[in-house]
Amino acid sequence: MIGEQYEDADPSEIDLADPRPHAERDLTALWRRLREKEPLHWQPPRGARPGFWVLTRYHDVSAAYRDTQRFRSDRGNVLDTLLNGGDSAAGMMLPLMDGPHHTALRGTLMKAFSPRALSGVVDSIRTASRELVTEFLERGRCDFASDIAGLLPLRAICDLLDVPPLDRRRLLDMTSSALGSHSDDALRRNAWVSRGEILLYFSDLAARRRESPGDDIVSLLTQCTVHGRRLTDEEVIFNCYSLMLGGDETTRLALVGGVAALLDAPAQWDAFRSGRITTETAVEEVLRWTTPTLHAGRTAGADIALHGRTIKKGDIVTLWNASANRDGDVFTDPDRLLLSRQPNRHLTFAYGTHFCLGAFLARAEIGAVLDDLRRMVGTMEAAGPARRVYSNFLGGLVSLPIAWSG
Ligand code: HEM
Repeated sequence: MIGEQYEDADPSEIDLADPRPHAERDLTALWRRLREKEPLHWQPPRGARPGFWVLTRYHDVSAAYRDTQRFRSDRGNVLDTLLNGGDSAAGMMLPLMDGPHHTALRGTLMKAFSPRALSGVVDSIRTASRELVTEFLERGRCDFASDIAGLLPLRAICDLLDVPPLDRRRLLDMTSSALGSHSDDALRRNAWVSRGEILLYFSDLAARRRESPGDDIVSLLTQCTVHGRRLTDEEVIFNCYSLMLGGDETTRLALVGGVAALLDAPAQWDAFRSGRITTETAVEEVLRWTTPTLHAGRTAGADIALHGRTIKKGDIVTLWNASANRDGDVFTDPDRLLLSRQPNRHLTFAYGTHFCLGAFLARAEIGAVLDDLRRMVGTMEAAGPARRVYSNFLGGLVSLPIAWSG
């Protein structure tokens, strides 16, 4: 568990755009209070920064995900970029599109994300998970975040994009610098440089795949036609980048958070190990419990009346998955980890039109690791302080030292 709860805090005094409350405090009580008392909350402007709306109830968040006319993604889908005037990849990256162009590109990409198309990637992830758990069990300890969870999702994405084996180490280094959400200014500047390097890398890879296409997603993006035209280089590069961003750190945080949750709930770990709980329900509860993407951002496409207030056309609206996944109107005993929970219609992968394209893959990765833990690990305990990610968008642990044995 992290820091103290905001039990009596006035929600207007807490800046939800600031990474610190998310990293340093337990917001459970704050979310509960907002859901109960102020389900449409306004965070006022701060200095030059615009204000934004905060939705916290499950039914409001899922309704907003469904209503892509009134809650638009085509200026950006995370709070930080919206507060800074919009995303430079808006209209080019799948998650930052609305309407027919989104439907057409999503339809094209879906083929590459079907369970059948992904079966080879899933096999490779199962093997990698088994090898990593075996190796680190022999050593007796590891940082589960960097030694295991840090490697699997990236491997899956490199398989999907068919990144040549010799480039993978370099890409791994660039992404850990680019995607780590740091509290430190120097590290944050490095992250920008690394993001530029990743875009350049994909620019080069896309050029090669245009020349000689293969059976991978980069080739698919370079060869496909959407509404009668090929994607531009920029569109190909941004979408590769988006897959990397969308699939790597999120899955990693779910994996690490899952292990941390098992350490905190020994009875659940015992029940899982004894085989009384299926991997399928455990995966869903880990996804609900960890909710790696705390929110999604939208822009109001019209004036919207809700809970007695009016969201004005053009306003920024944030949909807090972190709160919706703990809504007691939908989940019994919501603040308890229950690996056998059923039904479990969490919003971790969003809902509706932009429902996560990588959900099957992420579930397969988490399932592979949970299966290996169940089969191979006897005891497991914390072996040092865990460290949280600094972000208002991603939630979870970037470091989790553990000691374990078979
Ligand atoms: C636990 C892991 C993951 C979580 C929590 C997650 C979460 C999400 C969420 C919340 C959205 C909706 C964003 C929005 O509506 O603005 C989304 C969309 C998306 N995700 Fe994931 N994701 C995960 C893994 C992956 C993986 C492994 C991939 C691919 C390799 C991926 C690719 C995508 C793509 C392409 C979209 C955009 C879909 C669209 O706009 O139609 N995600 N994801």
